[in-house]
Amino acid sequence: MRHFLDISDHSSEELQDLLDLAVRLKQEYFAGGNPPLFKGKVLAMIFQKPSLRTRVSFDMAMRHMGGDALYLSPNEIGLGKREAISDVARVLSGYVQAIMARVFAHEHVLELARWSSVPVINGLSDYSHPCQAMADALTIQERFGKTKGLNVVFVGDGNNVAVSLMQISVKLGWNFTIANPEGYDMPAAAIEQARQVAAQTGSKLAFLRDPHEAVRGAHVIYTDTWVSMGQEDETAKREAVFPPYQVNAQLVSEADKDVIVMHCLPAHRNQELTDEVADGPHSVIFQQAHNRLHAQKAILARLFGVA
Ligand code: CP
Ligand code: NVA
Repeated sequence: MRHFLDISDHSSEELQDLLDLAVRLKQEYFAGGNPPLFKGKVLAMIFQKPSLRTRVSFDMAMRHMGGDALYLSPNEIGLGKREAISDVARVLSGYVQAIMARVFAHEHVLELARWSSVPVINGLSDYSHPCQAMADALTIQERFGKTKGLNVVFVGDGNNVAVSLMQISVKLGWNFTIANPEGYDMPAAAIEQARQVAAQTGSKLAFLRDPHEAVRGAHVIYTDTWVSMGQEDETAKREAVFPPYQVNAQLVSEADKDVIVMHCLPAHRNQELTDEVADGPHSVIFQQAHNRLHAQKAILARLFGVA
């Protein structure tokens, strides 16, 4: 594994291997700590957008395993503005052992990877959020085991988090359904790619408008913000369209009785997810957030070639 840019770049076996390693590193961490496998390694973290989970979980993943992390704020580098992305990649490659980047345009993280001689990790782009999907899959497997044929249902905007969740669902043999309003579909290329993977792994895909139809038989209901970072000027328009897609107690009651409710966070409470559901018995949102730490330790370990 040279970089970690998008779930679709990796085979089902490679992804399951990362998840198994994450389970092992998580057990080890709670049994007294991880060995310092990342000693002498520094991760540069480029952020063009705000973050709580991605920043802190990557930083702590490095520290827990004897390494270090360097936070580079949105104003610091001016990726592609103060300096060409190709130059940033080549300069950082001489200072650090890996680069994690949260960017606006997906093309920018690909460009970093093209020029970097050290591994590059996508810490969220406008297209996908692969580290989130790894933590999500870890959380789903912790609850349901490695069962194929689970029904994973995303309700809301066909955004970066939805794309990565669809990608990992078809890789792991889960059925994936999305219910989203017209005009907020996932990118056609992502859907086409997922159809091809699903044909091999036996996953079923469904693209619906009606959230009630979508959640019937759901083992996982997943939602995310209606307004992603960078879309703030569309807030009023989106807030008018999305209310029928709110994940509330009524919608959850229409799913499987053992359904889990997921959200990558940050949540806009009582918009896409009600307090009652977020803090209710089906919610796994904090387990999911905490699993970022363990999933990312596994990704880093494989990229560094140390585990
Ligand atoms: N879920 C997630 O990536 O959170 P942050 O934006 O806080 O990093
Ligand atoms: N879809 C959201 C995810 C935040 C972690 C965004 O891109 O802002």
